[in-house]
Amino acid sequence: MAKMEVKTSLLDDMIGVGDMVLLEPLNEDSFINNLKKRFDHNEVYTYIGSVVISINPYRSLPIYTPEKVEEYRNRNFYELSPHIFALSDEAYRSLRDQDKDQCILITGESGAGKTEASKLVMSYVAAVCGKGAEVNQVKEQLLQSNPVLEAFGNAKTVRNDNSSRFGKYMDIEFDFKGDPLGGVISNYLLEKSRVVKQPRGERNFHIFYQILSGASEEFLCKLKLERDFSRYNYLGLDSARVNGVDDASNFRTVRNAMQIVGFMDHETQSVFEVVAAVLKLGNIEFKPESRANGLDESKVKDKNELKEICELTGIDQSVLERAFSFRTVEAKQEKVSTTLNVAQAYYARDALAKNLYSRLFSWLVTRINESIKAQTKVRKKVMGVLDIYGFEIFEDNSFEQFIINYCNEKLQQIFIELTLKEEQEEYIREGIEWTHIEYFNNAIICDLIENNQTGILAMLDEECLRPGTVTDDTFLEKLNQVCATHQHFESRMSKCSRFLNDTSLPHSCFRIQHYAGKVMYQVEGFVDKNNDLLYRDLSQAMWKANHSLIKALFPEGNPAKINLKRPPTAGSQFKASVATLMKNLQTKNPNYIRCIKPNDKKAAHIFNEALVCHQIRYLGLLENVRVRRAGYAFRQPYEPCLERYKMLCKQTWPHWRGPARAGVEVLFNELRIPEEEFSFGRSKIFIRNPRTLFKLEDLRKQRLEDLATLIGKIYRGWKCRTHFLLMKKCQVVIASWYRRYSQQKKYQKIKSSAITVQSYTRGWKARKLLRELKHLKRCNEAATVIAAYWHGTQARRELRRLKDEARNKHAIAVIWAFWLGYKVRREYRKFFRANAGRKIYEFTLQRIMQKYFLEMKNKMPSLSPIDKNWPARPYLFLDSTHKELKRIFHLWRCKKYRDQFTDQQKLIYEEKLEASELFKDKKALYPASVGQPFQGAYLEISENPKYKKLKDAVDEKIIIAEVVNKINRANGKAASRIFLLTKTNVLLADQKSGTIKSEVPLGDVTKVSMSSQNDGFFAVHLKEGSEAASKGDFLLSSDHLIEMATKLYRTTLSQTKQKLNIEISDEFLVQFKQDKVCVKFIQGSQKNGNIPTCKRKNNRLLEVAVP
Ligand SMILES: Nc1ncnc2c1ncn2[C@@H]1O[C@H](COP(=O)(O)OP(=O)(O)OP(=O)(O)O)[C@@H](O)[C@H]1O
Ligand SMILES: [Mg+2]
Repeated sequence: MAKMEVKTSLLDDMIGVGDMVLLEPLNEDSFINNLKKRFDHNEVYTYIGSVVISINPYRSLPIYTPEKVEEYRNRNFYELSPHIFALSDEAYRSLRDQDKDQCILITGESGAGKTEASKLVMSYVAAVCGKGAEVNQVKEQLLQSNPVLEAFGNAKTVRNDNSSRFGKYMDIEFDFKGDPLGGVISNYLLEKSRVVKQPRGERNFHIFYQILSGASEEFLCKLKLERDFSRYNYLGLDSARVNGVDDASNFRTVRNAMQIVGFMDHETQSVFEVVAAVLKLGNIEFKPESRANGLDESKVKDKNELKEICELTGIDQSVLERAFSFRTVEAKQEKVSTTLNVAQAYYARDALAKNLYSRLFSWLVTRINESIKAQTKVRKKVMGVLDIYGFEIFEDNSFEQFIINYCNEKLQQIFIELTLKEEQEEYIREGIEWTHIEYFNNAIICDLIENNQTGILAMLDEECLRPGTVTDDTFLEKLNQVCATHQHFESRMSKCSRFLNDTSLPHSCFRIQHYAGKVMYQVEGFVDKNNDLLYRDLSQAMWKANHSLIKALFPEGNPAKINLKRPPTAGSQFKASVATLMKNLQTKNPNYIRCIKPNDKKAAHIFNEALVCHQIRYLGLLENVRVRRAGYAFRQPYEPCLERYKMLCKQTWPHWRGPARAGVEVLFNELRIPEEEFSFGRSKIFIRNPRTLFKLEDLRKQRLEDLATLIGKIYRGWKCRTHFLLMKKCQVVIASWYRRYSQQKKYQKIKSSAITVQSYTRGWKARKLLRELKHLKRCNEAATVIAAYWHGTQARRELRRLKDEARNKHAIAVIWAFWLGYKVRREYRKFFRANAGRKIYEFTLQRIMQKYFLEMKNKMPSLSPIDKNWPARPYLFLDSTHKELKRIFHLWRCKKYRDQFTDQQKLIYEEKLEASELFKDKKALYPASVGQPFQGAYLEISENPKYKKLKDAVDEKIIIAEVVNKINRANGKAASRIFLLTKTNVLLADQKSGTIKSEVPLGDVTKVSMSSQNDGFFAVHLKEGSEAASKGDFLLSSDHLIEMATKLYRTTLSQTKQKLNIEISDEFLVQFKQDKVCVKFIQGSQKNGNIPTCKRKNNRLLEVAVP
């Protein structure tokens, strides 16, 4: 969910009035009451326009948390309740966004909370400015410079436990993005007298106490220090411990901060050595020693301390000792050495301690600057934060207070200059109607102090430089003379008799009526402090130190660089640096934080109205409110104003052609800003109320958003339009192409339709024509046919006529011939009748025979004996001749065929002839065997090594070698046997092994029986009583039965000269051992294919089914 923007305002839930400008009625009481009311409700900040009044709460309030930082970040100044963060944010943003260098001037008396305020500003800016490792380091270094400087430059005073005893102005530098780049710190006059002496109830600088409390034993030992404060003369004892301050832990913080800022370990060590040396210097005591010339000379009482200091600082003990006893004055190449008495020795010691410490402090600032200085040379934006010691009034006020209060006068002056005077003068300059508001201008006090001729500082310098005896009293005398008439100068001894009887004013004092109150200054020490002299012997002794830091702190101790010119006095130095500071501040946009101290007790919740009232008065806050109320909150030259807001009005946006002022007038009229809210100056527009400005800003913001939206809108419109135009162009192209295409299609369709119509028409026309032509043709044809028929009829009629004519003619001729023949035959019949018939018959017969033979010769069939063709007989009477001729021709061609045969072929044909005689028409198997040549040796006995034994056993020529089936008489099953027929024997041998099973001489074979059917079964009957017959006859079956039987018949015939009986019958008896079994052949089914099956039916019957 989007974060709800809660628009709060200064006016929301306001306690009292957040901005004093709105206070009604405006007087001192209401002002204080308002402050008190707010203070009681923990509202410590209140505005006077853009000035922030801050009242020290003396306790920590929960209003500086990171959440608060976020709350105030990027918000309008008057949007939230008054806060120091609002001012910081405003300053930071105008620095970042409007490129204006800023300065934050924090004023108020000591303890009012200036240092705290400056730290809050810095931490706020650090929190809101850029982020990143490098930036964070810069921020951290800038922030951590504070604890270091506070430790060395702050001290507990009666007014403030952490009182700044130096002035500090810090420039924080930013790049164009608002990221911090670095910083530069300037310091102003450290109150160094505190090093050697502190007023009652006050302390020395924090660092001394911090070292003694926080350093380890070892470190203390190194620094030759002891933890006990009372061991050191320079540490005031009555308030060495401060409530709520932990020196030990602060020491750790300081060391840590030094490390973060970039101090090297040896640098830190050196710094603490110097601090220790200063502390120990206070313990050096002197005793008087009378000298021969009657002058007193001082001697160091206890040399131990001196020795330790020298060890710490690397100074030759004798050199330092001498520097404490003598003073060398150099004048015109002459060196005069005078002894120092005890008082002078103490003075020298303290001067050395103060100088050492103050120079160390300056060195620290320089060193920190080195660390935090910006690393780039790019143009920087600057935010200066000024935290200077506050106005202070002590019981005894000396030169330091004088300087501090002078500085505060100057700050007040700049405040007046910029807020009261300058503002009012500007109104007059710009011609704005204005009623002058009275206020106290402290320029007169500043003049009292800094006037080059008659100013107190000038007097002091004059005294210091004047030859002759110069004391503080002579200085006061001078003041009494010169300043007597000054309204703000008071002195008992002045020429002005006003104060002659003023007992509150001692003789050795003068009083100044500062803007913030009267302060009485003790004149004692002014001259010395202004001179700030360190005996040359001491500075030279320091320069000789074997300690790089100390050596560097006293460059004037270098004898090679002796400068006889007096150094500028402390007062003039300070005046100059303050003048520079003021100049610097005037170039920047000021932001004021005016700190107010609610009570003198450093206590929370106490609001001392009298005290506050006093501060309000001298700070001129009421006048501030008045000027603010009567005047205008904001002003700006016309050009930038018009430039910034011109977008709010149609006439001025985007360009205004006329003068800027007229443009602004038009703009404000258009915006209907009430007339009392603004005024037109000569060069600037003045806006009375900040709210009007904020309204303008809000309108501008809104308008900028609208403009952004407008730009977006126009851009989007342009984009859409471009897109649309492109699409339109595309659409036109597509449409034209489509139209062209569709027109093309349409045209093609019309064209094809036209062609179709045309072709139909042409077709129709052609058909019509064709029909006509056909009709014509048919008419022609018909005419032709009719003509033809007519001609035919004519012709036939003519032919018939001609034929009839010819027939008639022929008939006439024939009749005539017959008639003539008849007449001849009747005449010559009696002469030819006797032999003419016979001769004609013989001749005719002869001719017929001739013709028959000649035709036969041409029609002779082929010479193949089996060719059955023979030409038909032409005449019946030649029938017997024709048959005889056929028989003779057949015999002749058979003889011709036989004459071609070889002997072997003859043998084969003989065998075939034999077979034909034996089986033709007897055995059904025979016709199939005619075409099969008789091969005899189907088994290659001699070739097959398996039958080698069989071959060896048979020495005669083998006629038949064939595998047969021997039928088992027991069951009719067949077993394979090799059947061999030689010239003399029939042999049966085992098919696998070749061993001879039976051998029958051909003489013992009596008969061979077989069926008349188409099977290969045959029985070989053996002679009864022969040796072979003992086992009985053989019943065999073979695929070559015809051949086997023929060959057996022929071999038996040639061997025994007897014809073997071949019985062909479908039922025959076979002798099996003792039994005779009948073998019967029946017609079987074709179940087993064409293979005959043999089955034993009973003891006497073996049935062979032949398919
Ligand atoms: N905003 C604050 N919130 C809480 N305590 C504060 C605040 N401002 C000041 N104090 C307290 O008041 C004390 C004095 O403040 P600070 O040191 O800022 O005064 P100062 O104006 O700098 O005085 P001086 O001129 O002596 O340096 C601080 O030590 C702190 O205890
Ligand atoms: Mg301070």
